[in-house]
Amino acid sequence: MNPAISIRDLHKAYRTGNVITPVLKGVSLDIAPGELFFITGPSGCGKTTLVSVLCGTLLADSGEIEVLNHNLRRMTESQLTQFRANHVGFVFQQFNLIPSLTITENVAIPLRLQHRSPSSARAAAADMLNRVGLGAKLNARPATLSGGQQQRVAIARALVHQPALVVCDEPTSALDSETGREVMELLKPQPSDSPRTVIVVTHDPRIHHYASTIAAMEDGLIHQPPSAIHS
Ligand SMILES: Nc1ncnc2c1ncn2[C@@H]1O[C@H](COP(=O)(O)OP(=O)(O)O)[C@@H](O)[C@H]1O
Ligand SMILES: [Mg+2]
Repeated sequence: MNPAISIRDLHKAYRTGNVITPVLKGVSLDIAPGELFFITGPSGCGKTTLVSVLCGTLLADSGEIEVLNHNLRRMTESQLTQFRANHVGFVFQQFNLIPSLTITENVAIPLRLQHRSPSSARAAAADMLNRVGLGAKLNARPATLSGGQQQRVAIARALVHQPALVVCDEPTSALDSETGREVMELLKPQPSDSPRTVIVVTHDPRIHHYASTIAAMEDGLIHQPPSAIHS
């Protein structure tokens, strides 16, 4: 089976004026379909940069990157936008919900980006919110919900278009242990769902047991070969 994600010798530096900060220094990585793949490592080591490159929101300087059989480095900006809309869901530490919209409208956004009709998008969003336990709050604004509830809205938004890849950057860091556990229960691939690969950037040891593989990142490199936690 082809890997869901295959990265070879990936380099990325930021340029601010005359200062060049190398961040990815030759990362190579394979992630199999269906994995719940964790990337850990100290703050500043390049985790957010790596996941931004592998979902095409940030361009690499050199190296190869193939995601879901798409060669991201050969795609145009608009092809990358389309690729993300069709195949990728995102969950961030700070939820990133739009405060002026109801939670149903927030969750409907990925479907509207796919040009689904407003009524069908709203129905699918409501269905997804039911599944994450927020069916009684469909017309609530994000600010009226707890942090854990807001992250569940963000997860509903990440999963509503059934993406093959879900990228989560520190999804539990702002949450207490119990809420963090609930978040991981929702994110982990379910046999009844469409197949998905989930990447979780985290330095939260409370959730490590959810991983199928943990890769340690340090100073712009994935140092140890990913270790299989569960066989
Ligand atoms: N847009 C940017 N411009 C310049 N430097 C950046 C930018 N984003 C991140 N960096 C720097 O790149 C390094 C890696 O950042 P990041 O990928 O966010 O690490 P992590 O997610 O592991 O904390 C850090 O030193 C950070 O300061
Ligand atoms: Mg980060």
